[in-house]
Amino acid sequence: MRQDGIAMSEEEAKERPEKKKYEFLEDLPGVGPATAQKLKEMGFHTIESLAMATERELKPAGISDRKAFAIIETARSSIGVSFIRADELLRMRKNVLRLTSGSKVLDRLLDGGMETQTITEFYGEYGSGKSQICHQLCVNVQLPPERGGLNGSALYVDTENTFRTERIVSMSKFLGLDPEQTVKNIIYAEAYTSDHQMFLLDNADEVIKQNNVKLIIVDSLTAHFRSEYIGREMLAPRQQRLNKHMHKLIGLARAFNAVAVVTNQVMAKPDIFFGDPIHPIGGHIVGHTSHTRVYLRRATHGPIRIARLVSSPYLPEGEEIFKVTENGIEDASEQDRTKPRGR
Ligand SMILES: Nc1ncnc2c1ncn2[C@@H]1O[C@H](COP(=O)(O)OP(=O)(O)OP(=O)(O)O)[C@@H](O)[C@H]1O
Ligand SMILES: [Mg+2]
Repeated sequence: MRQDGIAMSEEEAKERPEKKKYEFLEDLPGVGPATAQKLKEMGFHTIESLAMATERELKPAGISDRKAFAIIETARSSIGVSFIRADELLRMRKNVLRLTSGSKVLDRLLDGGMETQTITEFYGEYGSGKSQICHQLCVNVQLPPERGGLNGSALYVDTENTFRTERIVSMSKFLGLDPEQTVKNIIYAEAYTSDHQMFLLDNADEVIKQNNVKLIIVDSLTAHFRSEYIGREMLAPRQQRLNKHMHKLIGLARAFNAVAVVTNQVMAKPDIFFGDPIHPIGGHIVGHTSHTRVYLRRATHGPIRIARLVSSPYLPEGEEIFKVTENGIEDASEQDRTKPRGR
């Protein structure tokens, strides 16, 4: 059984009847070389990603619903995921790992850091620190667990060409890591269009598995979709595509017990009379699919940023401050805290 994923622990496995473990798609009963090839072309290169697929997704490979059901079930059973009782769900939750943000108070707001198996969304205006957090997480994920890391590497899907290795070098030096090695452990892909962005994730499973990727970043999730799908009539197809994209991301985060982080821009809704007129892009689809949403704001001046936990499946709303410096994401000092806060 896999040790790192949501698969069962050894003790749990002993309590269950023996289940066959498969390594490659071709090994699965009912999957010959031709079907395996078609599945790979559709983005399913590993048993893990197949385990997270739906029967409908396998249709284009010419696989009947019944056969798809059997294949997915076998893949699920191979990695130890199947229908489970609620008490087992609790045990599954125990496999959830946490990744530090670099700021203790921000970690505390998130109950110990960014969770694996779920999507954490950071949204806010330009310069609010979304990409800086993403850079920092790429470094932190490489730390050992006792330092808040996951001993893994990172996959960075960059849609706005804002990833900078210089920042990784500064951040890793500050943490006493070898900058050259740290940079090597980040797999970078620039997405040129929303279709390309989707294609990258659809084909990421093998890269994730081979490189022990424990952090998947999409920065920004919505920028391409927002600029390509313009006008009311494009709203429905845009939301449908975004939904598919986010479900792919959740599937990968679950299959590989990885942290998934997305960033999102905001827009002002002028017709709002009550509450905050600033809203994240992507509407209900993004809102409902992101498990944890954090709204970032700049203070009126300086390095201070304000993080508000806007929604979480089990944590209360809350607000904390941190700062963005040359070293990366850090806790604000007492002196920083007494300076005027933001809007
Ligand atoms: N080397 C550095 N030292 C100190 N602060 C830095 C450094 N690099 C970036 N910053 C801070 O981070 C800010 C940029 O933040 P970031 O790129 O994370 O914004 P963002 O929220 O991703 O914005 P956008 O919506 O435009 O992508 C800069 O304006 C600066 O305040
Ligand atoms: Mg950015």
